[in-house]
Amino acid sequence: GVQKRGYHAKVLDHYSNPRNVGSMSKDDVDVGTGLVGAPACGDVMKLQIRVDPNSNTISDVKFKTFGCGSAIASSSYLTELVRGMSLEDAGKIKNTEIAKELCLPPVKLHCSMLAEDAIKSAIRDYQSKSKRRTPTLGQKQ
Ligand code: FES
Ligand code: FES
Repeated sequence: GVQKRGYHAKVLDHYSNPRNVGSMSKDDVDVGTGLVGAPACGDVMKLQIRVDPNSNTISDVKFKTFGCGSAIASSSYLTELVRGMSLEDAGKIKNTEIAKELCLPPVKLHCSMLAEDAIKSAIRDYQSKSKRRTPTLGQKQ
């Protein structure tokens, strides 16, 4: 209901005014792309991160979600959360944190799972790309 603190406000705000919608070039070596689907409902989320290879932090992030309001809100919130974060920290984000922040009901937990899967998959993609690039002095991993 309307009395529930923050509940509708936060989800609706991210849903009707999603942050960081868009895409980046998949071929850019500094960009990692995650494309994941939710088996429970068939919704799909694409999340892309641009990584600063010197600091190993996320300098930019974009998403496109073909899914329900909770999935859109989860991805929008996630993009705000991971900007500036190290890859290591971003890889540890749990869907329960997202669900808690947005006050998603249990039936909508899998929507936030999509966001956790997407960031993990984007990080993996970036890392597999960066392994292929010529090693630069002082850069590891
Ligand atoms: Fe996919 Fe909710 S079941 S939009
Ligand atoms: Fe399936 Fe939300 S992602 S209902």
